[in-house]
Amino acid sequence: MPTVSTYPIITAAEAADLINNRDIIGFSGFTPAGAAKDIPTAIAARAKQEHEAGRDFKIGVVTGASTGDSLDGELARANAVLFRTPYQSCKDLRAQINKGETCFYDMHLSMLPQAARYGFLGKIKFAVVEAAAVSDEGEIVLTTSVGASNTFCNVADKILIELNEAHPAGLEGLHDIYEPLDPPHRREVPIYSCSDRCGSPVLKVDPAKIVGIVKTNRPDEVGGFKETDEVTKKIGENVATFLADELKAGRIPKEFLPIQSGVGNIANAVLGALGANPNIPPFEMYSEVIQDSVIGLMRSGDIKFGSATSLTVSPPVLKEVYEDLEFFKQRMVLRPQEISNHPEVVRRIGVISINTAIEADIWGNINSTHVMGNNLMNGIGGSGDFTRNAYISIFTCPSVAKGGAISTIVPMVAHLDHSEHSVQVLITDQGIADLRGKDPAERAREIVDKCAHPDYHDQLHAYFDDVKDGHTPQTLRTAFAMHEAFMEKKDMRGVDWSSKYSK
Ligand code: COA
Repeated sequence: MPTVSTYPIITAAEAADLINNRDIIGFSGFTPAGAAKDIPTAIAARAKQEHEAGRDFKIGVVTGASTGDSLDGELARANAVLFRTPYQSCKDLRAQINKGETCFYDMHLSMLPQAARYGFLGKIKFAVVEAAAVSDEGEIVLTTSVGASNTFCNVADKILIELNEAHPAGLEGLHDIYEPLDPPHRREVPIYSCSDRCGSPVLKVDPAKIVGIVKTNRPDEVGGFKETDEVTKKIGENVATFLADELKAGRIPKEFLPIQSGVGNIANAVLGALGANPNIPPFEMYSEVIQDSVIGLMRSGDIKFGSATSLTVSPPVLKEVYEDLEFFKQRMVLRPQEISNHPEVVRRIGVISINTAIEADIWGNINSTHVMGNNLMNGIGGSGDFTRNAYISIFTCPSVAKGGAISTIVPMVAHLDHSEHSVQVLITDQGIADLRGKDPAERAREIVDKCAHPDYHDQLHAYFDDVKDGHTPQTLRTAFAMHEAFMEKKDMRGVDWSSKYSK
């Protein structure tokens, strides 16, 4: 890759000065991996100065998914976010969103790039993209994520690059950049197995659009994962047992099928359990994120290949990957999120999806995003992209939260992200509910008996056992009684259906 000689080298503050109030900016980053860092922090500082001078200054923030604190955290604390999409996991930003101070559009991640191209998000003025290398011809080697950076660079008027020395230029070859045409010219995505490549190892942009390069040396702000505890260990073992039994029954072919695993502590523990189960053969991943546990499983040979859009690993694990980059480049590819999460590919290659729920109802509907129906946690992320199109769709969650005061199995989810029609298997630390081929009343019994915590068995049975009306014997008068109980006395246990509500 030729060295940079033709672009202006500027400071992050000079880059921030190019931005105008209410500009919409597409930032690189899918999770904190590969997220822009110095320029958003400088924009936050600029916003504070503008506010102190009595002037408005907010920007529309579009990214691949969540980012690091120097992007979402800094901008939120500077009160500089006009709107945010498609996903976030930042404490300060979440607080603003839940107070109604910042707009947030929760989007399926595979759809974000095409929404940007179609103009559904407004005109994206700047793309701010982290790179490991840039050539004079406008070829960019991205870093630990692709996300929607390719689309942002294509649709934006101007491009600003953070050239980050913390990432080696040897990353070239890790990425596969392919962007579909828009309808009516779109063709199928030519990926038929996890390791297929169909694009370019570098992101090609019009060099005339690159208005500045900011040199940085900043590691990704990826936090570590919580240690696996008894509950997450049991969930992981249950997922592994279910998949091993499916393989034995011939419902999963002997070659096995690609795994997608969601984000978070539970997902990380589930992958570890799959690798440890001797009845599950080495497998491939078609997922959006490569997390810590995947790296060890690649070393041991339990994971043969990983396709994703980000390498979201903690700093010591990233160091390990960089020290043996050629080994890992043969075993992984980073694609645009439009492709890593593409429903057509997911359906074609038969992905087994495993995502985490905040709560599930006894009919199989899933809430992935909102606590008690109104407070946003993170967002739907890629869970819908995979769940709706999976060969087998699995949701996991602990049977209780907040020390047992919350049952994650409820009569009706307080917010709906994935409907009963898309969800095939529910797994908690208590057991496995196989919902395939079952009608609503059968599903309700399966979920309560297999997945609910014993403290809630009688209560949940009492909810639906007497109701005989309708195909889905839901009782709207009492469907949220457990949520109400938590809001009134901070505990869902002991709901007395008969005294509080008449059936
Ligand atoms: N009611 C209230 N709070 C609940 C809850 C419920 N029913 N269920 C979980 N929580 C709380 C937990 O107590 C915890 O809060 P705390 O940190 O204050 O204790 C928090 O939610 C996160 O739970 P945790 O057990 O740490 O799970 P996680 O790290 O695996 O994250 C999700 C779980 C659902 C937040 C996360 O998976 C997510 O954002 N999913 C949606 C997007 C997605 O699936 N993306 C992947 C697609 S590839």
